[in-house]
Amino acid sequence: MRRKIIAGNWKMNKNLSESINLISGIKNGLPQNVSAEVIVCPPFTSLETVHSLIEEVPVHLGAQNMYFENSGAFTGEISADMLKSVGCEFVILGHSERRHIFGETDEIVNKKIKQAVSNGLKPIFCVGETLEERENGKEFDVIENQITSGLAEISGDDFNKIVIAYEPVWAIGTGKTASPGQAQEIHKFIRELISKLYSQIQAENVRILYGGSVKPNNAADLLSQPDIDGALVGGACLQAESFLQIIEAAG
Ligand code: PGA
Repeated sequence: MRRKIIAGNWKMNKNLSESINLISGIKNGLPQNVSAEVIVCPPFTSLETVHSLIEEVPVHLGAQNMYFENSGAFTGEISADMLKSVGCEFVILGHSERRHIFGETDEIVNKKIKQAVSNGLKPIFCVGETLEERENGKEFDVIENQITSGLAEISGDDFNKIVIAYEPVWAIGTGKTASPGQAQEIHKFIRELISKLYSQIQAENVRILYGGSVKPNNAADLLSQPDIDGALVGGACLQAESFLQIIEAAG
């Protein structure tokens, strides 16, 4: 049985006081025996404070990005060690906004994944096709390429630390969700690919999240698909109430 993950990607939202408000709301409304693994990914400037506020609750901390070098003259970048030092367990890597707005290639994403796992961080490794790619029937090729390149030279042991997130670019922040069937088809494909790249057992164990306009009113349908093991939530995680409703939809 794969435990479901509900992860909130706050993106470039919430200053420090707004972050305190949001995490307090999540904390206060968290069901007692929450069954999902809950992860929040605030901006860098709020990580330490949010960490101090979740110490006694079953909420885990993630960052939204990091650089692949250990330290040095990389103005504006953040290292894996820095993230660990403020309590991060997870880091989102290869998000489509990083790929498309900031020009991250598969090769960069691969270097970041290697750096994260070798420093004890668990990557939430994002993949997804654009609308044009889907319209040209290329979604499976694109996903296969992103997964194979992103995981190049990642050992089986290190792979066990990775969570995969399928986020069709055309569904992110657009209000257009992939139908549960469309999402399930890709998740199943990813799981089969993992069994070829690693092993059947690792394919059965890896958690594959869906992301792209997940809301309280569509979460349960998506999460009931056999190969959807959770959600990476953007817009709907910026308010405690809607994030909590999605956590509840996970069971
Ligand atoms: P969205 O974002 O829920 O606002 O579509 C999801 C994501 O980008 O992780």
